[in-house]
Amino acid sequence: MKLYLAPMEGLTGHVYRNCVNEFTHGLIDKFYTPFIEPRPKKGMYKSQKFDLERDNNKGINLIPQILTKNPEDFLKLAKEIHETYGYEEINLNFGCPSKTVVARNKGAGMLEDTDDLKAFLDEIFKGDRDYDISIKTRLGMYDIEEMYRILEIYNQYPIKELSVHVRLQNEYYKAKAHMDLFPEISKLSNHVLSYNGDIYKAKDVSKLLDIMDGDKVDSIMLGRGFIGNPFLAEDIDAFLKTKEIRDYDKFDEEKMRRLRPFLDKIYEGYANLMDENTAVYRMKEIWAFMFSYVSDDKKKLKAIQKSKNRLQYENALRSIFD
Ligand SMILES: Cc1cc2nc3c(=O)[nH]c(=O)nc-3n(C[C@H](O)[C@H](O)[C@H](O)COP(=O)(O)O)c2cc1C
Repeated sequence: MKLYLAPMEGLTGHVYRNCVNEFTHGLIDKFYTPFIEPRPKKGMYKSQKFDLERDNNKGINLIPQILTKNPEDFLKLAKEIHETYGYEEINLNFGCPSKTVVARNKGAGMLEDTDDLKAFLDEIFKGDRDYDISIKTRLGMYDIEEMYRILEIYNQYPIKELSVHVRLQNEYYKAKAHMDLFPEISKLSNHVLSYNGDIYKAKDVSKLLDIMDGDKVDSIMLGRGFIGNPFLAEDIDAFLKTKEIRDYDKFDEEKMRRLRPFLDKIYEGYANLMDENTAVYRMKEIWAFMFSYVSDDKKKLKAIQKSKNRLQYENALRSIFD
């Protein structure tokens, strides 16, 4: 079983990806860029181009992700990314639940009208392409029943891989993921699937394998569970190799010792790219997911959350690590 890191806007850019690749010793088989929305007149932002540069992603298996409802815009941008940077697979985002995105029929909004979805897929798959197209999808907008028609439509196209985030659009990120539906999804789909949703511990993988009842899970895409606990990939790897389930709610001393240089390296990467205060802000985004593994001390958490510059951030870190 392979492990992927989910695309996460503001979190999984190249600085973070490189640090993760080193930290996990290559346990993450695929990384995805946060979504790129085509801007037909102006083109990609400088920062998006920089994030795609091969030199900034050495040794990383990176899949660029595009968010659009317009087939021509998709094909134009996918071709540009393929030809400029040499990426062989481009991922389509049919999962973003944000109201502003869905209101423009993009992201998970693509799943609302299945005739439009089909028309879009007809267009992008009709010609010859020299790159593959994969899709990251939710199960539907409002009702689990929608997933049957959506999967039936996907089955009609040569999609390289289908990552399934087992939630509906109207469940955003809060509702419990519908892991129990994955065996049925696997039976209904004729594509290579990647499971995504609420994998926080090795025992969640164990549960997924149990409900699959012997059917193969090709890959798991890790999301917030990994951002909060970067040891998750090695925990899952250990479970897959030895069936050992590492279950803990706090990082032990050894983990804390390993965590510090990992976080410092991410911070330095950000500080080289942007002003210090923005770099601190970026670190706080990671800490929001990670803090509960580190301490129950609310004062320490507040110190991180309130830090606005390097000095304050480093002082807050010292109170946690020293
Ligand atoms: C802050 C944040 C940003 C995200 N950005 C993207 C994105 O750019 N593209 C995408 O397909 N999904 C995005 N997602 C969704 C994740 O890739 C993933 O599907 C979701 O977090 C569910 O997995 P989890 O329950 O393991 O976290 C984002 C999620 C979060 C919380």
